[in-house]
Amino acid sequence: MENIQSYINQHKDRFINELFELLKMPSISADSAFSQDVLNTADAVKIALEKAGCDNVEICDTPGYPIVYGEKIINPNLPTVLVYGHYDVQPADPVELWDSPPFDPVIKKTTIHPDGAIFARGACDDKGQMYMHIKALEYMTQTNNLPCNVKFMIEGEEEIGSSSLAWFVERNQQKLANDVILISDTGMISNSQPSITTGLRGLSYVEVEITGPNRDLHSGLYGGAVANPINILAKMIASLHDENNHITIPGFYDKVEELSAKERAEMAKAPFSLEDYKKALDINDVYGEKGYTTNERNSIRPTLDVNGIWGGYTGEGAKTVIASKAYAKISMRLVPNQDWKEITELFKNHFEKIAPKAVKVKVTPHHGGQGYVTPIDNICYQAASKAYEHTFGKTPIPQRSGGSIPIVALFEKELKSKTILMGFGLDSDAIHSPNEHFGVFNYLKGIETIPLFFHYFTEMSK
Ligand code: BES
Ligand code: MN
Ligand code: MN
Repeated sequence: MENIQSYINQHKDRFINELFELLKMPSISADSAFSQDVLNTADAVKIALEKAGCDNVEICDTPGYPIVYGEKIINPNLPTVLVYGHYDVQPADPVELWDSPPFDPVIKKTTIHPDGAIFARGACDDKGQMYMHIKALEYMTQTNNLPCNVKFMIEGEEEIGSSSLAWFVERNQQKLANDVILISDTGMISNSQPSITTGLRGLSYVEVEITGPNRDLHSGLYGGAVANPINILAKMIASLHDENNHITIPGFYDKVEELSAKERAEMAKAPFSLEDYKKALDINDVYGEKGYTTNERNSIRPTLDVNGIWGGYTGEGAKTVIASKAYAKISMRLVPNQDWKEITELFKNHFEKIAPKAVKVKVTPHHGGQGYVTPIDNICYQAASKAYEHTFGKTPIPQRSGGSIPIVALFEKELKSKTILMGFGLDSDAIHSPNEHFGVFNYLKGIETIPLFFHYFTEMSK
């Protein structure tokens, strides 16, 4: 596969330009104002797959946004890799905090990306990373280097919980049959130290509503005599963590997998500078569960965070009012073995229980999913490790991530196959934030590394 680097060098400008075209499409799945753009993006992905040499490419309708499917079956006796990615992106807001328009991609140099990074919503999560696979396929089909079968399944609802994909997977087990699922939708430690994501956290996302009096009240006439839903909500939320930052919901930790001292020592070997971490976020100190390091807190430990809180008067000036209602959106990141439906139930019961009689509580579950772990003795991990070693000249470090791709656990349940997470993004790439970007180095390195995974995986499957 020596000619991969020359193929990339020869075509890299086109690879970047094609990605730019995809990034110009505002495929925001969360906002129905963009529904036509999401659909147009699915069409663009279909065309890209066809051009890269995929057969039987189709737009598969679902109750929600479509799934783009394609395949290249060269020999049914060879292994099949199923590539998954998503073409939807997060909303761009707050738009005023972007240095350039979110859907008008530009390349700019940064300290971390001296060769330049592509700035646009979705550059890293996940259009850039998904498109690496389409270009890797192009290389493999164009140069006769495809060593096994490949299927593509690119969805448009990852950022809103993948419910149509769950629907699709349950109905298409045969079509999606595979030996391994390959995903680039995570990150790695740094451009000089590759890592492979061996775990994802699960998720339970809920919305809560606290209702006090039946209407907004004058805070002088009624203040002090009736429950203020915002005060109560703040108190209830504060009580969900104790002084050691442990979560206080009874039963919450019952199924949490405790890592052995050896595993924790292994984890601690990953390069990490607390000083750099604090500096990058402009914080004077880190904060979290007692007894765990920063890297443990954001990967092997479950968490509870308020994502949004609102109610009452937030306009200009002052209005003296006790609001009738207060709301919050709360997410819990879960670790393997914690069941997200069970945790959602525990949260609901606890939250209802701790509310004073003076208010009414409503807990509405949104979406969720299970955590996931890839064992490092699996051939998919070993093939990926060899691929990174080849292209980066360094053995990648296994590392659990704090993020979630809830559909991965469902793949294992429905399709009975393991997922290998070959992410090429960096934590500093600002996914879901203003000024999201993806290093040009990372984009091209991904295109170079993916065919090697195909090669080693096919070899090791023999
Ligand atoms: N690609 C991310 C998940 C991710 C990023 C995992 C970096 C590991 C490292 C994905 O698009 C995402 O944002 N997932 C959501 C969950 C979803 C249900 C909205 C998340 O983790 O918040
Ligand atoms: Mn993603
Ligand atoms: Mn995302």
